[in-house]
Amino acid sequence: MRYETEFPDRPFHYPKSKSALHCEGVSLPWLAKKYGTPLYVYSAGQVLDRYRLFGNAFGHRDHLICYSVKANSNLSILKLLSRHGSGFDIVSGGELLRILEVNKKAASRVVFSGVGKTVEEIDLALAADILIFNAESETEVALLAERARKLHTRARVALRVNPDVFAETHPYISTGLREHKFGIDIKAARRVYREIKRSHYLDPVGISVHIGSQIQTAEPFGAALAGVAELIRELEGDKIRIEFVDAGGGLGIDYHGGGESPAAKAEQYAAAVESALQGLEVRLLVEPGRFLVAQAGALLARVLYVKRNGAKTFVITDAGMNDLIRPALYQAWHEILPVIRDPEAKSSVVDLVGPVCESGDFFARDRTMPKVKEGDLVAILDAGAYGMSLSSNYNSRPRPAEVMVKGKLAWLIRSRETIRDLMRQEIRHLY
Ligand code: LLP
Repeated sequence: MRYETEFPDRPFHYPKSKSALHCEGVSLPWLAKKYGTPLYVYSAGQVLDRYRLFGNAFGHRDHLICYSVKANSNLSILKLLSRHGSGFDIVSGGELLRILEVNKKAASRVVFSGVGKTVEEIDLALAADILIFNAESETEVALLAERARKLHTRARVALRVNPDVFAETHPYISTGLREHKFGIDIKAARRVYREIKRSHYLDPVGISVHIGSQIQTAEPFGAALAGVAELIRELEGDKIRIEFVDAGGGLGIDYHGGGESPAAKAEQYAAAVESALQGLEVRLLVEPGRFLVAQAGALLARVLYVKRNGAKTFVITDAGMNDLIRPALYQAWHEILPVIRDPEAKSSVVDLVGPVCESGDFFARDRTMPKVKEGDLVAILDAGAYGMSLSSNYNSRPRPAEVMVKGKLAWLIRSRETIRDLMRQEIRHLY
C-alpha cells in the first residue's frame, strides 16, 4: 500500500490537487459525517507495512517483534498484529487481559515489563504462562519466585538492566540512566542472576534493556546492547545461558516528515543491535510501539471557532488536550492539515487549541498553515501512538470514537463514549 503524497511515510494523502484528505482509499469528510468528530482514524495497511518493514530489517537473526501495547491498545490493532504473528510487550494486568481477549494463544508471545507489578498481575501472568517476566528489582525477583512456588509453576525471567546510557529525547521518556527508576544497575545484575539460578521456581532465560522512547539515532541502542552482550559473556562463565535478548522499544519517527525513510531507520537500528550481538546465539525480542502505529493514525477534528485575541489568532477545535495530550505534556510537534486542500488558500499564523480550560490545551502554537474557517475539518497527523491510549475524560469530555481503514473500507473499532459511560462508576449518595 503506497500513495503518492507530499506527506511521506503516512497513509494520509490528497488524491487531487484540490480535494479532501484521504486515509488510504477513504475520504476524511465522509468519516467525519458518518462517525462524528473528534475521531481517531487508523490505517490498517500502514500498521502492517511498518510491522513487516521492521521485521525485515533483522534479516536472518531469529527474532520476535513484541508490539508495545501501551502505544495503542485498541483490541482491533492488537488483533491485527496478533494475526500476523506479533508478540506483545505489556506493562499491566489490564494489557495482558486485552491480549487474552484477542487471542489466548498469544500469551506465549508476551513479555511483561514495569517497575510496579502487583501480586495479582504476577499471578495472572503466571497463570497465562507468558513468555518472560522482565523483572526490574531484586524484591520483584523474590516476589516472582514466591508466587511461582504458590502456583506450582516456574517463571521465565529476564532482568531489565539499567545500562546508564544517555539517549537524546524528552526527559520524561528517557529511561536508561542510573538516575531513572527503571531496571537493575547492570553492574549488580550478575550477582542477581546467580541468585535466580539457585531458585527452583525461576529460569534466568533473558536480559532486557529499554533506554527510552522517540530516540532518533542508532548509537545509544548499540551502546546499551554492547553492555548486555558483555554481561551475557560473563554469565556464560557462571553457567547461566541467556537465550533471549530483549532490546526494548524506543525507535523514533520523524514527526516533521521528509527525513530519513522508515526503512532506512529500521535498518540502521537493526545494524546497531546486530553489531552489538555479533557472535551470540540468542533470540532477539524487540518492543516497538510508536514506530509501528504513530504514523498510521490521525486525530480528525472540527473547527468550532476562529477568534482573535490581541495579536493572536486562535483556531478552536472540538478535540482537546484530553484527546491528545502529547503537545501539552512533551511540547510535541504534530503536523496539522486542513482536510480540504485549496491550493489558492492563503496562509496565516495561528494557535490551534482545544476547548479545555487550560492554556496548556494546544496542538500547535504560532503555526503557519492554510487558513481555516469555522466548520472546517483539520487532521492532526502521527497521532496513532500515545494518542487515544493517553486520553482522559478531563472536563467531563467523552473520549473520541476510533475507526480503522483498509483500502476503501472503514469500520468502527471503538464507539464514542457518552456522558452516561463517564458517570456509570460514580455514586451520588452523600452518606
Ligand atoms: N518497552 C518499554 C519497556 C517501554 O517502556 C516502552 C515505552 C516501549 C517498549 C515502547 O517504546 P516506543 O517504541 O513506543 O518508543 N507517551 C510518550 C512515550 C512513552 C513511552 C513509554 N515507554 C510519548 O507520547 O511520546
